[in-house]
Parts: sequence; C-alpha cells; structure tokens
Amino acid sequence: MRIIPVASGKGGVGKSLVAANLGVALAQVGQRVVLADLDLGASNLHLVLGHHSPHAGIGTYLNDTRSNFNDVIADTDIRGLRFIPGDTEIPGLANLRSGQLKSLVKRLLALEADTDILILDLGAGTHQSILDFFLLSGQGIVVSAPAVTAVLNAYVFLKNTVFRLMFTVFGKGTIARSYLEQIRKDGSGPQKLYIPKLLPEIKARDPAAHDKFMARLEHFHPRLIMNMIDDPKDADVAMKIRRSCSEYLDLKIEHLGVIYRDSMQDVALSSRLPIILYKPQSVLSQAIYRIADKILQSDEDKFILDEKEIDESFQEAEAEAEVDFDNKMEYVEDLLHSGALTQGDLIETVKSQQFEISKLRKESNFLKLKLSQAIAKGFTP
Ligand SMILES: Nc1ncnc2c1ncn2[C@@H]1O[C@H](COP(=O)(O)OP(=O)(O)OP(=O)(O)O)[C@@H](O)[C@H]1O
Ligand SMILES: [Mg+2]
Repeated sequence: MRIIPVASGKGGVGKSLVAANLGVALAQVGQRVVLADLDLGASNLHLVLGHHSPHAGIGTYLNDTRSNFNDVIADTDIRGLRFIPGDTEIPGLANLRSGQLKSLVKRLLALEADTDILILDLGAGTHQSILDFFLLSGQGIVVSAPAVTAVLNAYVFLKNTVFRLMFTVFGKGTIARSYLEQIRKDGSGPQKLYIPKLLPEIKARDPAAHDKFMARLEHFHPRLIMNMIDDPKDADVAMKIRRSCSEYLDLKIEHLGVIYRDSMQDVALSSRLPIILYKPQSVLSQAIYRIADKILQSDEDKFILDEKEIDESFQEAEAEAEVDFDNKMEYVEDLLHSGALTQGDLIETVKSQQFEISKLRKESNFLKLKLSQAIAKGFTP
C-alpha cells in the first residue's frame, strides 16, 4: 500500500483539494483508494468530496472505546474510493495523545489488506502528530502556493519533519538524542539549527546514530506541489524551496507539478462535487490527472533519487506551467466565444485577482517590515 500524506505548513493552500481530487483520479484508473481526513481539529474534506456532514469519523473512533474502526470507513459514489471522515465537532482532537496516535496509525496501516493507496489529508501547522503522519511515507506531498507566507511555511514544515525524523531515529538514551535535547533546552530550537552544521557534531559524538539518520534521510524525498499559481513565473518559487532545503536541511525534494488557480473550483465546491468530476477538462483537473499519473509511474520502493532526476522533475514542472498557461488562455477564449463566459465575468475575475494581488502585496510589505525590524535588532537571516 502506498501512503500519500498531504501537508503544507500554511493553511488554506489546497491540501484538501489535492487530497480529494487525487483520490478520485487514482480510483478512476482502478486503484483501491482510501482517503482519510486527518485534519482532526478542523476536518472539512467531506465538503470537497461533496459529502454531507459526516456523523461519525476518526474522532468518534478515538473517543469511544466501543466503536469499531471499520464503521467509520464510508463508501463513496466513486468506485474504488472509500473515505474516512475526521469529525468536525470534537474539541481537542488536534492534539492526539501518543496512545491515540499509535492506535490510529495501526488501524490505518491495517488497511493494507484491501487498499492500494492511502491518502492522508493533514492539518496545517507543524504539530508533532502531523509530522508523524507525514513521516509514514518517504514521499509525502507538501502543497505550497507562491505567496511568501506559504513558501516560508512549507520550508518550516519540511525543516520540522527533518528534525522529527532525527528524534525518531535517535533512540531514547542515545548520546545523539541527549545532544539534540540539550540543544533544544539551550534555546537554539529547530528554527536556528542548520542540519549541515549539526550533522558533523552528531557524527563526532555518536557515529552510529549519525549513520542511521543518514540512511533514513537518503530515503526521504518529499514532493512539492505548487498550487494556486496565476502565471508561469510563479512556478520559479519552487526552486527557492528546493535550494533552501538542499542548503540548510540536506534534503532533496522532488517537484510533482504546478496547479493554476481556477475559478471553476468555486463553482465545483458550491455544486458539492470534486472539480475532477465537475469539470474534468478544466486546467485544474488536468493538472491533478498529470500528478496522479506521475505518482503511479514512480517506483514506490525506489526512494533514492539522484540530482539528475530531481532536476528533471523541476524542469518538467516549469514546462507544464507554460503549457497550462496557454491552455488556460485558450479555454477563456473558447468560453468567451461560446458565450459561457461574458465580458462582465471576465472583468469580475480580473478585479478579484487585483484584490488578491494587493492583499499579497500588503502581506509581503508587512513581512519586509518585520524582517527589517528583526535585522535592526541584530538578527541575521
Ligand atoms: N487551484 C485552485 N484554484 C482555485 N481555488 C482553489 C485552488 N486550490 C484551492 N482552492 C480553494 O482554496 C480554498 C482552500 O483550499 P483547501 O481547503 O483545499 O486548502 P487546505 O490547505 O486544505 O486548507 P486547511 O488548511 O484549512 O485545511 C478552498 O476554498 C479551495 O476551493
Ligand atoms: Mg484542508
């Protein structure tokens, strides 16, 4: 069973959209897919799937010792796709206790008997249980958007996964673990640590733990999806994440592809259908099909990537961004000619995009201000 966790760091960048539509696309080509809503504090995957508010889900299973895990797995209208809702109304669920996490992971792994692909829609942020779910696979998906905050959060998320991986690999009581814990206590938490600087320190103190970690890191290649892009130039941002990961985390990430912002998604959402069913020919749906294809074609056991393969994945994503942009433009022209889209609709879309741009600009200016204040106080970026 392939496990595909979908995470992001920042909320609202499209994790649930990617998880749900990928689930449908993979089921449509004959895979037996289970889609689990693990955004336990704020689950809403059922909305993207077009389901009504679910009555029982993972929350019910975790809170009621008499409940049966199989009862929370629901069939969907799509052949081959099953769905595990999260439960929206149970407070405190975002912070799973370690016993709850273990029990849930065990149940999820047991799905292997009749499942080819398990997709996990994770919550935003870097809570420990989110990191642990993400680390169930060596090829989890990180969704980002071109906005500065989204990129920053995607990077911080990846940084936290690498540190969490270290903690799990270094057993309790080992010298490496004590060293890491000491650094943490001294106040130089993960935000300030650079893996390439840290690794030689660990190697000098505990070579066995160091080698064990390196062996795991070699099999850990998260995959990036750049969502909500408006222009091929937005795709360049992915390179920044790649560079930071490689320089500061010793982490090689792969590019799974770009997805354009598509106004059709709002219509699909209000029609209570995943866009891939509502408008399979839309640019967004086509991007999802392409990503599903890449997942199926990649060798699930072959986690070791070389630099050439990574380069290719980035080049391919950039080329796809160009092609999709042209298709998007053609699509708009077709809609205008056929009358499906009026000049008025087009003006409205441009206006709302201008609003988004000015919002992003404000966000970026705010961040610049914060950064210059921090630099003035002696912080070196
Ligand atoms: N490519 C896209 N084009 C248009 N709308 C999009 C696109 N991707 C996501 N959206 C919309 O953006 C909003 C956020 O998406 P989604 O709920 O999938 O994000 P999320 O990362 O799961 O958020 P959360 O952190 O709250 O769980 C939704 O309204 C969704 O329909
Ligand atoms: Mg979500």
